[in-house]
Amino acid sequence: MNLQEKIRDMEPISWSADNDHRKTFAQYPTGVTVVTTRDAFGAPVGMTVNSFTSVSLDPPLVSWSLRTSSQSRETFRTAKYFAINILSKEQTHLSQLFCSPDQNKFAEIPYIEGVKGTPLLSGCAAVIECQRQDFVTWGDHDVICGRVLRHAYHDREPSAFLGGVYGGFSARLNDA
Ligand SMILES: Cc1cc2nc3c(=O)[nH]c(=O)nc-3n(C[C@H](O)[C@H](O)[C@H](O)COP(=O)(O)O)c2cc1C
Repeated sequence: MNLQEKIRDMEPISWSADNDHRKTFAQYPTGVTVVTTRDAFGAPVGMTVNSFTSVSLDPPLVSWSLRTSSQSRETFRTAKYFAINILSKEQTHLSQLFCSPDQNKFAEIPYIEGVKGTPLLSGCAAVIECQRQDFVTWGDHDVICGRVLRHAYHDREPSAFLGGVYGGFSARLNDA
């Protein structure tokens, strides 16, 4: 059965009863980022995020979504500044580190300080520094919108994430 035949006769879903949605959404490849900021005490905070997207070019706005049950929710709700660190293919270990409950995530990794001390991770494919613009709760996630203050990229292959697996975009780079 092809995709059109599969979807044609479906009823709109009762979301809680839908078991396949993760598999459907897992068909959309993303990059992998670590969103960083500082908490109210000045400690560096970061978490692995693949919901990052560019929203507007003029003005330059980005968004990402945060699980409402996240330990870092209050920090990101109140932080005025945050940075999107787009991981390179060689930084999969940072994706693992920043999705773990490890309290001391910044102890062993190199970073510099950006706007208002926001941690900027070393070795990334790109870094985007933002000022928080909006924080809206949608369902079980908050959508955080930021205005881009500064950005920079490096000619490194970014990490890619598809269906729970890390990979790269080597075909695009080989064609360049
Ligand atoms: C590849 C990948 C992408 C993720 N993307 C998100 C995301 O967009 N939003 C989110 O809230 N959690 C995301 N997570 C899960 C968080 O990284 C993880 O729940 C968090 O670091 C744990 O800290 P917490 O207890 O503060 O939530 C992602 C995890 C991985 C491995």
